[in-house]
Amino acid sequence: MKKYFESKYGYFTDDEYVITNPKTPKPWVNVISNGDYSIIVSQNGSGYSWRGNGSENRITRSFQDLIKDNWGKYFYLRDLETKEYWSLGLKPVMHDYDFYEVKHGFGYSIIKQVKNNIETELKFFVSIDNPVEFMEIKITNKTDKKKNFDLSSYVEWVLGNFPDEHREFHKIFVDSKFENNALYYDKLISSFLDEKGRHNNKSWDQIAFHAVSEKVKSYEGDKENFIGMYRTEANPIAMEEDVLSQKTGRYTDPIGSLQVEFELNPNESKTIVYIIGTAYKGKEDPKEFVKAFANVEASEKEFKKVVKFWNELFDKEHVETPDDAFNLMTNKWLKYQAISGRMWAKSGYYQVSGGYGYRDQLQDSLIFLPLDPSYTKKQLLLHAEHQFKEGDVLHWWLTIGNWGPRTKCSDDLLWLPFIANYYIMETGDYSILDEVVPYYDGGKDTFYNHCKKAIEKVFSRFSPRGIPLMGDNDWNDGLSAVGTDWKGESFWVAEFLYFILKEFKKFAEYKKDKKFIEKIDDVLENLKEAFNKYGWDGEWFLQATTDDFEKVGSKDNEEGKIYLNPQLWAVISGITNEERIKKSMYSVTKYLLKDYGALLLAPAYTEPKTDIGYITRYAPGLRENGGVYTHAATWAVWAYALLKDNEKAYEAYKKICPPNRVKDIDNYLAEPYVTPGNTDGPLSPYYGRGGWTWYTGSAQWLHRVGTNYILGIRPTLDGLEINPCVPKDWNGFKYKRTFRNSTYLIEVINNGCNIKEIYVDGKKIDSNIIPSFEDNKEHNIKVILN
Ligand code: GLC
Repeated sequence: MKKYFESKYGYFTDDEYVITNPKTPKPWVNVISNGDYSIIVSQNGSGYSWRGNGSENRITRSFQDLIKDNWGKYFYLRDLETKEYWSLGLKPVMHDYDFYEVKHGFGYSIIKQVKNNIETELKFFVSIDNPVEFMEIKITNKTDKKKNFDLSSYVEWVLGNFPDEHREFHKIFVDSKFENNALYYDKLISSFLDEKGRHNNKSWDQIAFHAVSEKVKSYEGDKENFIGMYRTEANPIAMEEDVLSQKTGRYTDPIGSLQVEFELNPNESKTIVYIIGTAYKGKEDPKEFVKAFANVEASEKEFKKVVKFWNELFDKEHVETPDDAFNLMTNKWLKYQAISGRMWAKSGYYQVSGGYGYRDQLQDSLIFLPLDPSYTKKQLLLHAEHQFKEGDVLHWWLTIGNWGPRTKCSDDLLWLPFIANYYIMETGDYSILDEVVPYYDGGKDTFYNHCKKAIEKVFSRFSPRGIPLMGDNDWNDGLSAVGTDWKGESFWVAEFLYFILKEFKKFAEYKKDKKFIEKIDDVLENLKEAFNKYGWDGEWFLQATTDDFEKVGSKDNEEGKIYLNPQLWAVISGITNEERIKKSMYSVTKYLLKDYGALLLAPAYTEPKTDIGYITRYAPGLRENGGVYTHAATWAVWAYALLKDNEKAYEAYKKICPPNRVKDIDNYLAEPYVTPGNTDGPLSPYYGRGGWTWYTGSAQWLHRVGTNYILGIRPTLDGLEINPCVPKDWNGFKYKRTFRNSTYLIEVINNGCNIKEIYVDGKKIDSNIIPSFEDNKEHNIKVILN
């Protein structure tokens, strides 16, 4: 087994991240989801569970505390002879151990420990297609004596809307019972309205269950009986008593504990399976779930399905480059983070979201293009359904209540045509344009018209100078005070719109929408002119102007002089001339591309500014206030690659590719196997610290800029374009990719940066676009650069 990027906390293998010391500088977690049921597991064994989303339907309790990391579904193992007990993760008992190792894999986490010559393995995973989580526990007696143990689980319940800080109120509504070796929980209240619109007049629509594969010795449904007054999970009274008190019903503070007893001969092992899950009343049967899954065979079978699912998905696209960090992240971790963490779980340890951001999960859904574009299509149609007839959209929405804020954000709506373009280039599937999709506020229309309405809405929001207005904010949510009065302008939106219009024109042509084609041509011309007239600041482009006509991101500003996005999207959109592109990207290199990636702006704001917005209220260097905001920092790779600046593109990539931060891990602090939302900028005393991991749109984008722009292999309507921009010292790379049902096995030999020859199945071709075969076969592509 090859180890990569080893540090004092752990290392990568090809299939897992292995943590060798549970005292990582921050919780290093795994976010595991099947798209419906999700769990988070930290290296300590802490975490929580939810179904649907972590805000509206939390199953187990947890309050965000990254320092203590002390909420979880815990297991206590007790030696019945010595009465000594410890937990199967370091939390909650925080005992001494002889060996401790955590393996975070794709769809599972395993905590292995040895203590007193007793080896335990606790494996967490979620069924791939059932609302059931498994905790499969294997205990091996490595002493030379026969041993007697009992094992007790411990779970606190929320059962519905979170947070439930007012526990004394919430607990009143929970009912529990023990029946046929399993615990069942109902909650007689949910915060959703009843059919007459009344509050607190409806029960939770599910039943939760907790069961175990062994005969239960005793059980507990009451927190006080288990923990004991004034104690904690580290030293529960239950561990000083022979059996649990078997209290369930309506008068408890509801927890779940199932205690089983067993003996082990020397060298004997035993596997015990605990499960937790929920069943929708009237649609699913909790007892059936318990019967089907609370046994060892089911657990083993379900686990195999999980491993198979992820392997098959990853296998659709594979890279082999000289850069191990690039390979590890691109082949598995970035895909997993974007799918399991962002699209499915919709949550991380630093941010419990639970919603779909209008622009966020649309961008995330690009991750599926080389794997299974039908998921991208599904996401596009779903977001179209969250658009109003007028063309604007919900800024985000919660997936169960299906409600969210209607804002006056200037860019949200435009992500629909932007992402649709990539879906169509990947698949050639124009038929999506004709799909009929409802609006959020009634009525329905073709998907094409949904996209068109979004664009037209933006056309109606231009300044007298011909620049799109900022409104509540643009991609940078924290620019929240720039344009509230519909006077301030966003130059970034100008670029974004320009890019979209150039691409969308082909769809208008396909729909023979003559008037709209004319309109697009007209706007393209005027927008370009206005942008170049008013957006240029001398050495770079402005980010915005405020409602009071003040410039934002200008040499005339004392802080926030230069913003990253307008420089990058000037290149990406093609809205300006070469000279300005050169100058503004030179400024990016000079002022923004620092040690840990490209800063979102510089210098950071040191005081709140009421005409800019809440980014100025973050401490200088944090998040959007002059930190490396990883999402946007990936776009720097894109822009440099378009300019064929291969060394800079790679530099901008390497600096934000997380395994590379292992070398200063005690400065970085965060998990090295997923992207962070942000890294502290130079004004922070913690310059280089990673934060807000997992729940960030940067995972998909880092994958995308790596494959589409550094490797330079990207779908177009006519086929797969080959346009590598790899560093000089790579001797080449291999890339396997599925494209419209065929598999492309691409080998690139790098003797320079320009394409010399391309061979398709042994035959030389003249173009750098490999045709789309759509034949379910494999094709060998050889590319020679010189
Ligand atoms: C957050 C938002 C995202 C936004 C970004 C920059 O990540 O979810 O939509 O673009 O911040 O402000």
